[in-house]
Amino acid sequence: KNLDLNLDKVSKGDYEHYMLKEIFEQPSTIKNTLFSHLNTENSDIHFENLDELKEKLVKAKRIIIVSCGTSWHAGIVGEYIIEELARIPVEVEYASEFRYRNPIITKDDIVMAISQSGETADTLAALRYSKAQGATTFCICNVFNSSMARECDFTAYTYAGAEIGVASTKAFTAQVAVVSLLAIQLGLERNEISQEKANALVKEIKTIPSVVNQIFATDDHIKTVAKNYTETTSFLFLGRGINFPIALEGALKLKEISYIHAEGYPAAEMKHGPIAMIEESLPTVIIATNNEYYDKLVSNAQEVKARKGPIVAVVNDDDNEMIDTADYVFKVPRVSDMLQPIVSVIPLQLFSYHVAVLKGCNVDQPRNLAKSVTVE
Ligand code: AGP
Repeated sequence: KNLDLNLDKVSKGDYEHYMLKEIFEQPSTIKNTLFSHLNTENSDIHFENLDELKEKLVKAKRIIIVSCGTSWHAGIVGEYIIEELARIPVEVEYASEFRYRNPIITKDDIVMAISQSGETADTLAALRYSKAQGATTFCICNVFNSSMARECDFTAYTYAGAEIGVASTKAFTAQVAVVSLLAIQLGLERNEISQEKANALVKEIKTIPSVVNQIFATDDHIKTVAKNYTETTSFLFLGRGINFPIALEGALKLKEISYIHAEGYPAAEMKHGPIAMIEESLPTVIIATNNEYYDKLVSNAQEVKARKGPIVAVVNDDDNEMIDTADYVFKVPRVSDMLQPIVSVIPLQLFSYHVAVLKGCNVDQPRNLAKSVTVE
């Protein structure tokens, strides 16, 4: 079951870049990751040697997630979904800050690292600090037998396969898949959600790979929209609730491969400053797929529109309101709010990819970046 994740030679296949191949691999990498933690017959969720830690996890008073970059965004998704389903307090920390600020850690704490490489220096240091303080440590990582996997008490692997593109895509959605299953399992174990609710969520999460696959049909449209923005110098990305970390992730993707400045923000925070920046030269990407906050997102979009700000919105494919306000829309199939992060991020991955390629950037090896930051 532990797939050989350190493939020696990974080919690009028919794709122009590893990043594009990895974006298009996501239906299968999400499926591999899900089914590595699901019992195919009855869809029970299981994690290797979780039983040893179940007691601690179920009784945990607090989970502290330490990570960097895209993995930190997966951590924020984890915070929203674990608190929603399992009612365990979750704090998400930049590992680089956490390791130096003399944080208060007790033996009752669970410290969870999320890391594609399992080697990121700041995250590893944060884990080692936590272990020395007596905390239970576990990690979600994509590289079998990596430093974090070896040193943590417990590891839940993502099965995304070797991720070559520096900008993380398939590892991110696999991280979100694992953290979603973990949240459902913990919610069940702590009697915070019913077996029916868990079964319904597991049933829906199993459809996500095909939902993601459907989005690829809009790739040409996304590329056409991207052509409007190769000269743009700054973007705002807005999201609410569980899509707020997806706004952060969409902004990071654009920054790191196209070198365009982009900032992710909670949509409601607009009025506390950023709205002063809105003008024709500053496009706003709004993720408006939430069922819960939809009306608020539409009014946020109208505030931007009233100030002549261009809008690109990620919407459900049956949307009938945001499409009248946005200049361009990226449509995705409607899924439950809890499961939207994986779906909402796909068009943003493709958008940043196409803008970067149109700008002639080195998409797989962006300047100044390394795939795994093993030094401070
Ligand atoms: C994401 O696209 C970047 N490559 C970077 O932010 C990355 O997520 C970060 O360096 C953490 O890496 P890790 O997941 O291997 O720990």
